[in-house]
Amino acid sequence: MKLAFILDPISKLDPGHDTSVALIEAAQLMGHQVWITQANQLTILAGKACAHLQSVTLKPVRLVDGLWQAESNWYEVQNSTLMALEDMDAVWMRIDPPVNTPYLYATYILDLIDPEKTLVINSPSGLRNANEKVYALQFTSVIPTTIVSQDKGVIEKFVADQGAAVLKPLGGKAGEGILFLKPGDRNFNSLVEISTKQGQEPVMVQEYLPAAKDGDKRIILLEGKPIGAVNRIPTGKDFRGNMAVGGRVAQVDITEKEKEICQTLAPKLQEDGLFFVGIDIIGGYLTEVNVTSPTGIREIDRLNNVSLGKEVIEWLAAKI
Ligand SMILES: Nc1ncnc2c1ncn2[C@@H]1O[C@H](COP(=O)(O)OP(=O)(O)O)[C@@H](O)[C@H]1O
Ligand SMILES: [Mg+2]
Repeated sequence: MKLAFILDPISKLDPGHDTSVALIEAAQLMGHQVWITQANQLTILAGKACAHLQSVTLKPVRLVDGLWQAESNWYEVQNSTLMALEDMDAVWMRIDPPVNTPYLYATYILDLIDPEKTLVINSPSGLRNANEKVYALQFTSVIPTTIVSQDKGVIEKFVADQGAAVLKPLGGKAGEGILFLKPGDRNFNSLVEISTKQGQEPVMVQEYLPAAKDGDKRIILLEGKPIGAVNRIPTGKDFRGNMAVGGRVAQVDITEKEKEICQTLAPKLQEDGLFFVGIDIIGGYLTEVNVTSPTGIREIDRLNNVSLGKEVIEWLAAKI
């Protein structure tokens, strides 16, 4: 297969942590050809989505004392060539949030790719439809009590009713801007003003789930089916469990209840072309559906001695 990955600058990626690197590495080890590009390298020429693509070669990471180790020069890229993305068998759109204007414009360019020729993962329209925080709210039977509002009064009443809550910017990732709120907090007004940009931007406010101290489980779904999971446990100093803020990762199983949550989501994910997603589950509740650049494969692989990258690339080869 010929595969293109639209990424943030490769020099900024962490080979031992980033799932995009795991996917590229797996594809390459299986003999597929891989090119990389960035959102600002996409263009439309004669009605076709094109990109300045760079052929990439990776030196695979190695497991040393239970941790991935990469060489300092772990990637090598060739000079870029302008190519039609339809020359590829699949295009992976794997740019990190925020989903800002350049991100959205990139999805409009990807819309021009003929799905008969090239599979785009995830679907550009699906990426536009699915805000990572709000998308979960349609699955009312599996989520914690949650509101979305920019109104201080509404938020204040919700926090008072819940006793404790977590505020989340709708466009954040990796724990950014996630706040713990309690009634009577002397910073309450200011926190809400900053988060809502003075009442101009809605935020999510969710009941505080005490089970969060035992971990926030990331489950990777491939066409709605769970293929692996990893737990992220807060340090105790910070209530957030994200790996990016120091959360400890631990091996974990997928419970029957969590499999049911996956089944609840599967038809909708399929309909929206959201083939490769990472859901977050706290205490048996769905809190987030990560569709842009879900991560976790490296951690799942090393904790379970598996290769999810290989599994995903095999799925892709069979699909196209
Ligand atoms: N309802 C909640 N109750 C308790 N802790 C939460 C709740 N929602 C999120 N958290 C904590 O905050 C972290 C980040 O929240 P999340 O919704 O996954 O946003 P992000 O996109 O930043 O990962 C989680 O890993 C978890 O530790
Ligand atoms: Mg999360």
